[in-house]
Amino acid sequence: MTTSRNPVPTRPLGTTGPRVSALGLGCMGMSALYGESDRAESLATIHAALDAGVTLLDTGDFYGMGHNELLIAEALRTAPAAAREQALTSVKFGALRTVEGGFTGYDGRPAAVKNFAAYSLQRLGADHIDIYRIARVDPDVPIEETVGAIAELVEAGHVRHIGLSEVGADTLRRAAAVAPIADLQIEYSLISRSIEEKILPAARELGIGVTAYGVLSRGLISGHFTRDRELAANDFRGMSPRFQGENLRRNLDLVDRLRTLAEAKGASVAQTAIAWVLAQAERQGVDIVPLVGARRRDRLAEALGALDVTLDAADLAAIEEAVPAGAAAGERYPAAQMAHLDSEH
Ligand SMILES: NC(=O)c1ccc[n+]([C@@H]2O[C@H](COP(=O)([O-])OP(=O)(O)OC[C@H]3O[C@@H](n4cnc5c(N)ncnc54)[C@H](OP(=O)(O)O)[C@@H]3O)[C@@H](O)[C@H]2O)c1
Repeated sequence: MTTSRNPVPTRPLGTTGPRVSALGLGCMGMSALYGESDRAESLATIHAALDAGVTLLDTGDFYGMGHNELLIAEALRTAPAAAREQALTSVKFGALRTVEGGFTGYDGRPAAVKNFAAYSLQRLGADHIDIYRIARVDPDVPIEETVGAIAELVEAGHVRHIGLSEVGADTLRRAAAVAPIADLQIEYSLISRSIEEKILPAARELGIGVTAYGVLSRGLISGHFTRDRELAANDFRGMSPRFQGENLRRNLDLVDRLRTLAEAKGASVAQTAIAWVLAQAERQGVDIVPLVGARRRDRLAEALGALDVTLDAADLAAIEEAVPAGAAAGERYPAAQMAHLDSEH
């Protein structure tokens, strides 16, 4: 397996966004959605990422209902000053939760946006958020109003850049007409390619970067996921269509095909899957920064190794043949959550 290099290179995030590390660290799994995580190891993983030159830390105020922001705040507080100063926070807001942890909708009203931001700044112990975005469009509030409220936060110095999450091309255009948009955060991987048709061309046209999540399809195409893996009751993957029965079997067959190609390159499956997303930046003419969801140092080291994997045209063609677009069995979210995705309408 290729090992990580130091330091991680940087790249621009769209024409108006900040310069960020070529891989970002998604911290969600350290607080939510993937079952239990180890707090000390989570902190060590964030520190290792900063140490390697990762500057972009992605979170959401609803990941563990504030837990993830507090974790990041602690990691930054205890990191060397130089790393802390380089770190950029990307925060999602808007999800409404119940005491039991359920999701009941989204709130993108301007007053709510400013309220969410005030709490996030407090939890992060920061005077600004680097990129701020609503996690899902509030169907009752025009995107212009939600983005307009973030633009006012930018004006006031509380936020540096505006992002979007899981929106389609039309919403991207409407938002960009209100204020400069740094990046669109959206699922993109070898087995989730629906954004290639309209969304990536719109991002290219508008000079908006993409922070890609789910590049390992939540571990499914990491090469480490096995058919018999037991998932905790609160693990999102337990209700994700791609992880169910026959779908899981078919999807892991795709991983086996990818493994053969990865081994020939001296890379791991996860590294090949991440390198594939990195390679799309040039092909699509868009700044694409994968957010890797590592929550252990060994997984992080593996992910960073993807930066040393070069996929040439022949490699990309072989991967395309082994895992063609649309090959995945099952949708990327359960039906109720698919309905919330502006990007899928
Ligand atoms: N905007 C949105 O709607 C949205 C939605 C979801 C996520 N996100 C953001 O995107 C980030 C990444 O998403 P994700 O966690 O679903 O993506 P991911 O990177 O596809 O999946 C992460 C999972 O893959 C497994 N994995 C195995 N090998 C790995 C390796 N070498 N490096 C990293 N992970 C490895 C890990 O599971 P084990 O730890 O069990 O091995 C980890 O929990 C999140 O943390 C969050 O910040 C945004």
